[in-house]
Amino acid sequence: MGIYLDYAATTPIRDEVLESYVHYLKELGNPSSVHTSGQAVRKALEEARESLAQSLGCHRSEIIFTSGGTESNNTAIKGLYWQRKEEDAKRNLIITAGTEHHAVIDPIEWLEKHDGAEIIWLPIDEFGQIDLVGLATLLTQIQERVALITLMWANNETGLIFDIKAVTSLASRFGIPVHSDAVAAFGHIPIGFADSGLATLAVSAHKVGGPIGVGAMVVSRQTKLVSLIHGGGQERGLRSGTMNAPAAKAFAHAAEIAVRELPDEAKRLAELRDYLVQGVHRLTDVARFTGTIENRLPNNAHFIFEGCSGDSLLFLLDQQGISVSTGSACQAGVNGPSHVLIAMGRSQADANGCIRVTLGNKTTREDIDGFLAALPAAVNAALKAGVQK
Ligand SMILES: Cc1ncc(COP(=O)(O)O)c(C=O)c1O
Repeated sequence: MGIYLDYAATTPIRDEVLESYVHYLKELGNPSSVHTSGQAVRKALEEARESLAQSLGCHRSEIIFTSGGTESNNTAIKGLYWQRKEEDAKRNLIITAGTEHHAVIDPIEWLEKHDGAEIIWLPIDEFGQIDLVGLATLLTQIQERVALITLMWANNETGLIFDIKAVTSLASRFGIPVHSDAVAAFGHIPIGFADSGLATLAVSAHKVGGPIGVGAMVVSRQTKLVSLIHGGGQERGLRSGTMNAPAAKAFAHAAEIAVRELPDEAKRLAELRDYLVQGVHRLTDVARFTGTIENRLPNNAHFIFEGCSGDSLLFLLDQQGISVSTGSACQAGVNGPSHVLIAMGRSQADANGCIRVTLGNKTTREDIDGFLAALPAAVNAALKAGVQK
């Protein structure tokens, strides 16, 4: 199978999760039916909700199962925006950052194009951080016009972590709801929704050893959202449609394992990651590490390879059976400079020359050694090929 070092794109489904997923796929019954078969499936669904709530530190009634991170972000952002505008028509500002995933940027830009939203892009420094003092000043000036703030918990490309609690503490002074995309963070660092002060949060199963196509939106009990999807009124009326109990069950199971193993796994992966980073710097002097080793996801290493195209490096490593990434895999195969790096003030050349290496539960030291053994030849060939002008 080669060496898989792209866990931020997706993770292998865990064997025990697959087993229970298949088991529940065979159960007959619509969870909304009142008969015994339906209620048995309903029970499984509600157990999944309770279990996922524990993994996320929230109340079970705050979990809304969705098809994944993209849907959760869309539903939360559009729902909050419409709700806030309905309450007060002059609230049309959305505060965010250019380092967000497209599952956040695109719904916001859609609201700008079609529904009168104005976007405030917060400046991001080279360590992937916002200026909290600047945000406080901004909020004092425009508080009455702000619909919501949305900032991710950790960045999926660079692995750099935001201080979400600091953002919500500021926003709460002005009564402004905050949404966070925690798809990259969940399972790698502790996520406590109740303590976070967030209004809404997005997570996805396939990033934590669960199946693709299921996720959750957490909506605090105090938060009202206008619904995006209308129909049978399932999931607090926020996500109509027959509930996918087998997928919910599989997600909750994968999340429970990831959260239980997190303290040991975070330590193990950080050690492997540090070993990888040291190896890269020993083997080549064209690699620049992005951000700092602290304040980042334990499984993430992100480099700019000066004079190389990230795409060339990716393909050269792939030829040797090694899967890494240049950035987000979620852009439907569209390659281009990383919008995240550009938002951090980096040049086009830097944004074209990055490689993200992300580790996970099956990653071993042999995998890292395999990557390091393949790297020098790949870097030399990529340097010869040069960068696209
Ligand atoms: C930070 C982040 N948000 C959202 C998504 C989208 O999640 P999903 O693939 O479940 O729709 C991804 C996927 O890569 C992600 O990394």
